Amino acid sequence: MTTKVYSFYTAGRIIGGPGSIKEIGQHLSAFEASRALIVTDPGVAKTGIPDRVRQLVEDSGVKTGLLSEVMAEPPINQVDELYERVRSGDYEVLIGVGGGSSLDMTKLLAARMTNDCSVSEFLGTEKVKKPALPTVLIPTTAGTGSEVTPNAIVTLPDQELKVGIVSKYFLPDLVILDVELTAGLPPKLTASTGMDAFIHSLESFISTKANPLSDTFALRSMRLIGRSIRKAFSHGDDLEARHAMLIGSTLGGMALTAAGTAAVHALAYPLGGKFAVPHGVANSMLLVPVMEYNFDAIKPRLAEVADAMGIDAGGRTTDSRAKAAMEELRALVKDLEIPSNMSVFGVTEGDLDFLAEAASKVTRLLGNNPKKMSVEDIREVYGKLL
Ligand SMILES: NC(=O)c1ccc[n+]([C@@H]2O[C@H](COP(=O)([O-])OP(=O)(O)OC[C@H]3O[C@@H](n4cnc5c(N)ncnc54)[C@H](O)[C@@H]3O)[C@@H](O)[C@H]2O)c1
Ligand SMILES: [Fe+2]
Repeated sequence: MTTKVYSFYTAGRIIGGPGSIKEIGQHLSAFEASRALIVTDPGVAKTGIPDRVRQLVEDSGVKTGLLSEVMAEPPINQVDELYERVRSGDYEVLIGVGGGSSLDMTKLLAARMTNDCSVSEFLGTEKVKKPALPTVLIPTTAGTGSEVTPNAIVTLPDQELKVGIVSKYFLPDLVILDVELTAGLPPKLTASTGMDAFIHSLESFISTKANPLSDTFALRSMRLIGRSIRKAFSHGDDLEARHAMLIGSTLGGMALTAAGTAAVHALAYPLGGKFAVPHGVANSMLLVPVMEYNFDAIKPRLAEVADAMGIDAGGRTTDSRAKAAMEELRALVKDLEIPSNMSVFGVTEGDLDFLAEAASKVTRLLGNNPKKMSVEDIREVYGKLL
């Protein structure tokens, strides 16, 4: 039995299933809004999904505006810039359509609209003072789980870092999980965003804050993703695999809300901030070296991961199952064709000190890691990727 006190909160309402996007109009009526802003990025806009959402919202009698300029892994200054562009629109609800970048921007803009201060004052945990405008979040990647987390991640270009902003006001009022919206995600993005989701669950499962609730979400999520990610990568039109990925990703977001991510995410932040390595790619590259570092401290948990992923360990001891889980993680990164060398992104030996110093400051996440990491330990882990 756990001796920890734990807590959990999530989105106000989640609707899901193939075609569930068609129900957006009837659910919107609960907000009694007459004007909605749809927030997305140029890549998602090109798929036509935001236009479809817009039409459905208009058909329900709500006027819409469209903002499709969200930048990948948004720099912090873009929040205030976009706010200035849309503030006169009198929007009463914000609808985020896209991956983590668009969903996080939606949360930040919704809070910016009710708080009369620059977004820089939101930096940290629970610094947003007033409740945000209502939000609807519609993921089109099976990845970040942002639709159910109280987090929004921004890049700080001046410091070449990424940081997480945490606020209870970022949790959306409504989430729509429509698998059909993820069916067109290209293989490379399916792989990296899907691994991000898996890593949310794995890190939550080994987190020092792991608890019965986060374990439940994490194990089911790893089971779903571990058994379907290769299929979603190679046969993107397989809706069953896509559905497993989408639910697995949302459960991963719930797991991380309840227990937090750890060293993989902490070390990924400087790679994103300075070298623009996409979030899922940075995490996937770091996954194996960080788990090798953690190995001694997490063997019983890794054994359970092997079971959840359905791996035949060729033996039932904790040790054999834990080693089999590690083998499967190595195989996943390789089979999904994720780069394993940071030099692809321009990182050299001379950058290791910067990376290690920067990552060691991400104490919010490093504190969850089952094994403490010194700056030297972190440097060694990065060194394995050169
Ligand atoms: N808030 C959280 O809890 C949380 C958790 C993890 C990561 N994040 C953040 O989320 C961001 C990354 O999000 P992401 O990995 O979802 O990527 P993303 O939102 O940056 O999107 C990646 C690319 O995929 C494209 N895309 C998205 N859906 C598509 C679709 N259905 N079809 C075709 N193309 C599509 C986008 O246009 C974009 O070019 C990072 O900033 C990361 O730090 C947030
Ligand atoms: Fe992540």
